[in-house]
Amino acid sequence: MSNAHSTPLTADFLIIGAGVAGLDLALRLAGHGDVILLSKAAVGESNSYYAQGGIAAVLDPADDLDSHIADTLVAGAGLCHEDTVRQVVENGPRSIRRLLDLGAPFTREAHKGGFHLTKEGGHSTRRVIHTADATGKAVVEILLERVLAHPRIHAYADHMAVDLVTSHKLGMFLPGQPNRCFGCYALEVESGRVLTFQSRFTILASGGAGKVYRYTTNPDVATGDGIAMAYRAGCRVANMEFMQFHPTCLFHPKAKSFLISEAVRGEGGILVLKNGEPFMKRHHPSADLAPRDIVARAIDYEMKRSGDDCVYLDITAKGRDFIEEHFPNIYKKCAELGIDMATEAIPVVPAAHYTCGGVVTDAHGATDLEGLYAIGEVSHTGLHGANRLASNSLLECLVYADAACESMLNRIRERPRFAHPNIPLWDSFGVHSCQEAVLISHNWDEIRRFMSNYVGIVRSNRRLACARRRSELLQQEINEFYWNCSITRDLLELRNISLVASLIIRSAIHRKESRGLHFTTDYPDRDDANWSQDTILPITE
Ligand code: FAD
Ligand code: SIN
Repeated sequence: MSNAHSTPLTADFLIIGAGVAGLDLALRLAGHGDVILLSKAAVGESNSYYAQGGIAAVLDPADDLDSHIADTLVAGAGLCHEDTVRQVVENGPRSIRRLLDLGAPFTREAHKGGFHLTKEGGHSTRRVIHTADATGKAVVEILLERVLAHPRIHAYADHMAVDLVTSHKLGMFLPGQPNRCFGCYALEVESGRVLTFQSRFTILASGGAGKVYRYTTNPDVATGDGIAMAYRAGCRVANMEFMQFHPTCLFHPKAKSFLISEAVRGEGGILVLKNGEPFMKRHHPSADLAPRDIVARAIDYEMKRSGDDCVYLDITAKGRDFIEEHFPNIYKKCAELGIDMATEAIPVVPAAHYTCGGVVTDAHGATDLEGLYAIGEVSHTGLHGANRLASNSLLECLVYADAACESMLNRIRERPRFAHPNIPLWDSFGVHSCQEAVLISHNWDEIRRFMSNYVGIVRSNRRLACARRRSELLQQEINEFYWNCSITRDLLELRNISLVASLIIRSAIHRKESRGLHFTTDYPDRDDANWSQDTILPITE
């Protein structure tokens, strides 16, 4: 019996992912055609929803674009594409104005009337606009309300894209014709049916891959599906060695993935050891507000040196009223766990947070595949270089939603509606349901464990070689499950994290220097003469 759904679902635009990038783009496109919006969990469940600190943009008359550009370039450690940085920073204020027009409830400066701007690591001034310490939730809710009410946006929750449908996969190799994307297959998670979605344009807005690591600030959806799908379809993927670890994830047995915002340090919090001794001045002149790669590495070093399980973040000096006003969400979460952040320091550890690499795009989010765009954390636009500057990612989502929308609207006439070949139904002949779920759960654990131990904040040739051997073996095993077992969300995600893990390992092995988020004890120095270019792995089709 086939578990495929027989009628393809069609739209002008197919967006895979409903975080800030996907939601904002859906709203922009809906005035120009029908939009299908897929999300593999509830619509809006995303990294975006959990964003805390805010959105970086030049909003204060005393700030200037060149300063934001310079800070981004410094954080990016020589690998940012300057034209991309300029494009994103220059469009920042406009993107914020649009959110304000939609009703985003950004926090205002007490008694002064303007918006409160906070500070985060690597920024030379206060420029992060925010909604207390739950900015993502506020922005997602504003966008979601409009998306769900829009008659031309058809949102499919719990529908997981499995793979892209391309002309090459359909066996169409016409001379002079590029490889084209026609849509995707997607699993209806509840029923196990596989649906075919066809579109003029397909947009990956599927976020990052923090779940490749055991400890992460990311929610469960962040399994790098878009990066894996694009790579399998023949797109270039760049800079996967640069996985950003956030320095301060709450360390508590009952808290899964809870972030303690960098804004806590921006507003005066300091990192201390168990005995209360501050240590960041020993590592960088900017101390607690040094760029993130430096702070995370310093914490890793101090934890290994002392043998302690965590370090502590102390903001008690600011007093209860200030803390409750600025960080209500964090204050509440800590209190629920018995930590009073007004009187005691918060236990924290670094955790995988942001995927700086991704699917290579041009200045409009267009990928190597005709008809396929990638925006937001799934993409590699050149903005982040070897280390993303705090609060630049929500900004990138918004700026690239705008740029991609403009590009698709300019090209829409070139792509007549549904002049596609007949896409074959999903073929599940001969597969059986996997009777041994333990094989899947064990492999999940194994990948995440060796990635954390061998391909984490500090790497070495030996650790990377061990990781590669394990990764190759697991990939073979997982591919076997994929071809022989009925697909489930768990199995598809495992397939994707195993591919993304291998891309990270191969990229890390390739880069024989230390730079930004990639630090290896075998090549501890930055080597501009040989390594000041992006890592782009060979395409496999
Ligand atoms: P996401 O918001 O992650 O959305 C991805 C979407 O794709 C989800 O809807 C998911 O369900 C869907 N999806 C994934 N795979 C599939 C599939 N196969 N099929 C269908 N749907 C799929 N950045 C800032 O700039 N400022 C901050 O203050 C900030 N704080 C952060 C705090 C936390 C805890 C975290 C985790 C990140 C933070 N970041 C912050 C980073 C920022 O939130 C993300 O980079 C950004 O939100 C990514 O948005 P996105 O739309 O690209 O992806
Ligand atoms: C934070 O609030 O610390 C997260 C900011 C970011 O990741 O950009």
